[in-house]
This record gives sequence, structure tokens and C-alpha cells, in this order.
Amino acid sequence: MKKHVAVIGTGYVGLVTGACLAEIGHSVVCVDNNKKKIAVLKKGGVPIYEPGLGEVIQRNRKNGRLSFATSIADGMKKAEYVFIAVNTPPKPDGEADLSYVEAVAREVARLLSRYTLIVDKSTVPVHTGEKVKQVLRLHGRPDADFDVVSNPEFLREGTAVKDFLHPDRVVVGVESKRAERAMRELYAPLKGPLIVTDIKSAELIKHSSNSFLAMKISFINAVAGICERTGADVTKVAEGMGHDPRIGKSFLKAGLGFGGSCFPKDLSAYIKMAEEAGYDFELLKSVQKINAEQRRWVVKRLKKALWTLRGKTVAVWGLAFKPDTDDLRNAPALDIIAELCEEGCLVRAHDPVAMNLAKPRLKGVYFARDAYDAAKGADAVALVTEWGEYKELDMKKVRALVHTPVFLDGRNLFDPDGLVALGFQVHAVGRPSAALPASAVGRTPL
Ligand code: UDX
Ligand code: UDX
Repeated sequence: MKKHVAVIGTGYVGLVTGACLAEIGHSVVCVDNNKKKIAVLKKGGVPIYEPGLGEVIQRNRKNGRLSFATSIADGMKKAEYVFIAVNTPPKPDGEADLSYVEAVAREVARLLSRYTLIVDKSTVPVHTGEKVKQVLRLHGRPDADFDVVSNPEFLREGTAVKDFLHPDRVVVGVESKRAERAMRELYAPLKGPLIVTDIKSAELIKHSSNSFLAMKISFINAVAGICERTGADVTKVAEGMGHDPRIGKSFLKAGLGFGGSCFPKDLSAYIKMAEEAGYDFELLKSVQKINAEQRRWVVKRLKKALWTLRGKTVAVWGLAFKPDTDDLRNAPALDIIAELCEEGCLVRAHDPVAMNLAKPRLKGVYFARDAYDAAKGADAVALVTEWGEYKELDMKKVRALVHTPVFLDGRNLFDPDGLVALGFQVHAVGRPSAALPASAVGRTPL
């Protein structure tokens, strides 16, 4: 049955959560203190790039189930559930900054007027549920009737709408049968298992899931390093491993490492939280170290291919932290371009979607009209984000545009043999470098 929901925080997570809860039949108000963001949404725009989200928002604005506000009071007028989906950015020491969560909980406390579920959607360290409860008790009326619930998100950017509407699992951490019943009713329209736990376990499921996925990526990237030193091919190693269902094919793509707003932040928050609980999470520190090292692969490999870098032109294809998003948070491209500029390279950057967000963050970089323009006169092309459209490019045309045919495939998007046949010298993560034998070079088709 239709429930009334307020979602506080209308970013990558809150907006998808609110729009999809409306999509499955609930009446939702999405609240954000960023007035610009709400103004865009009220005019029918979408402030983030997320495939399919625009249609879901329009459909539910039209049927009246989804609306937007800048004040929590407006959002909570009829709310039976209040989702907290504000950001939990890492502090300098890695600990999650929960001040936004606390500020929202304080304001919600003062507005409680009926039994309400306060649902923590943001990724938070274990024990946050307890702290939210304390804040609600401290700032709410003594007779305030509420339950706190942990309901972590497992949304991947680029597939967030699908991930919400067709979840592998919904996790709810509750402290009462009443809260459990209310959460089951809310998510009843969704298929897939609803896993009920206590609050602390639900909070740890989120951090443990993300950290495990990050660990899997750093593992295959470490294997890539061994492949490069032994002449093996990491894509073959990953293929052979992935057929074992205990390992699984996904998240075994070697490349320039993980970025985004979640893995880096959740790893550092988990390490910090474990430390506070008296456990030194060495394993995750290694995951971080391998990941930081991975994005240095481009400059290290360029030095092998071009010897000196000062004054050399390098095309960078892809800026967003992964395809199908405009999100630049912790994107490898940002560190890679900074390193290239430090080496005195002239960088020609392209991304299908994230260029406008990147411009203010990348000084002294040429922003190309398209991938071909980026490749013009380049001494090397570095593929950093595996956007599908790069696979469709006419690589013969790219070969004719570059100054020297050096191609670095940071995400193993291309088949090296195809590029070698066009006369490229190919460097790919975890794979043997490839180029035509010297004798054949003269005959390469232009
Ligand atoms: C963030 C975290 O990255 C993620 O780990 C967590 O699960 C949910 O919150 P995301 O949606 O990517 O996810 O963050 P962001 O895109 O920064 O959105 C947060 C939104 O909350 C912003 O739009 C911000 O304006 C808003 N906000 C923040 C408020 O409305 N009120 C506040 O007090 C603070
Ligand atoms: C992740 C989790 O998947 C999601 O469940 C959680 O809710 C939020 O964090 P997201 O960060 O949006 O989602 O993207 P994801 O597709 O998981 O990729 C994360 C990073 O890992 C990207 O930088 C991607 O390039 C990298 N990655 C992913 C690899 O390097 N190799 C892989 O095989 C898979």
C-alpha cells in the first residue's frame, strides 16, 4: 500500500532512492539543501547523469507521487518514513564525516509528530544507528514515537535504477517487529530477498560488501603486475579464475583501479572504524596501497614507451571514474592527468559526458571536441575510462592522426592484435606489450 516517504539528500543515492520508491507506488518528497539542485529538479531537469533516471523522475512527477523541497519540514509533512541519504565524506584521517547525518537527525527530531521510521540510507560506520537514536531522543519530544532502521544502498552508478528496482537483496537492520513490518510493507512491490538483521550487522554488511569488491579488484590488479613481469596475460588468468563460481567472473577486470565516491571512502571508513574497535585491518590497507599504485601505471608505462615525457603530447580518453556516469569523484584520470602535467606533458583530454564537470578541476589541459581531436598530433593515446564509444572509433583514422602510434589501454578495452595490425605499439595492463616486428613496420597500412 502507498506510504508517505521523505528522502533527505538528493544526490546520486537519494535521488535514485526517492524516484524509485515513487516508481513502486509510494508518495515521495525529495529534500535537499542545495537550492540549485532542487530548482533544476522542479523544472523537470536531472542534476546528475544516470541512465534511465530522467524517465523515472518525469513519470512520477506527472502522476504526483514525486515532488521536491528544500526544507525538511516540508518534506516531512505527511512522512511515515524519513530516509537520510546525505553524504558521508571521508575526513583527512579517513574517518567518515557524519556531521551531515547528525544535523539532519537533529532537525528531524524536532519535527516528529507521528510514529516515524528514520531510515539510514547513507553509508555509515557501525554504531551510527545508535548515535542517530541518541540524537533523536535528545532533540525530540519525550513522547516521540519512532524507530531507527539501517537500509544500506547497493547502487552502482550507471545502473543505479536497475539495481534499485531489481535488487540482489534488500538489507534492513531493525530493532523491533514493528519496524520490520513497516520495512517489509515499504519494499513489498520489489522482488528479491529482503534480509532482516539487527542494525549493527546491516551497517557492517554494507562496508564489508564494498570492501570485499574493492579487495577483489586490487587482487586482480596485483596479479596483473605479476603477469607483466612474467609475460602472462591477466585477461586469460581472470577468465580461467572466473569460471569457478566460488570466485565468479565479475570484478576481476584488471585496469587502473577503482575510483568513485564509495570504494575509496568506505575502505578508509572501515579501516578507521575497525581500528576504533581494536582491530588493525591490514588487509584493507594493502587493498588501498595496490589501488593507489595502479593509477601510476600510465606515466610509468609512458616513460618506457617514450623515454622522456617533457613536451610530449598525450591524449587521455575518459575522465569519469567509470563509464556511464559523469562522476569524477576519486577518478583515476584526475591523478593521472596531474602526474602527466607534472612531467611536462601537453594533455588533450576527452570524455563523452564528464568534460564540463572536469574543466574547472583541470587547469592547462586541452579539452578535445571528440576522441579523434584528442588524438591529433599525440605522441601517445591513453585509454583511462572504458566508454563503449571508444570501441566504435575508426582506429585507422586515429593511427593517421597521432604523431607516434603508442597506445596505452588502461582498461583492456581493445584487442591488442587489432591495434598492432594497424601499426600501433600497444601497452595494456597485465598483458605483454605488442608491436609489429621492425621489419614489418614500413608496410603498415596508413
Ligand atoms: C552519499 C555517499 O557518497 C554514499 O556513500 C551514501 O551512501 C549516500 O550519500 P551520494 O548521493 O553520492 O552518496 O552523495 P552526494 O551526491 O554528495 O549527495 C548528497 C546530497 O545530500 C547532496 O545533494 C547534498 O546537497 C545533500 N545534503 C547534504 C543535504 O541535503 N543536507 C545536508 O545537510 C548535507
Ligand atoms: C560500488 C558498488 O558496486 C555498489 O554496490 C555500492 O553501492 C557503491 O559502490 P560504484 O562505485 O558506483 O558502485 O561502481 P562499480 O561498478 O562498483 O565500480 C567501482 C570501481 O571499480 C570503478 O572505478 C570501476 O572502474 C572499478 N572496477 C570495477 C574495476 O577496476 N574492475 C572491475 O572489474 C570492476
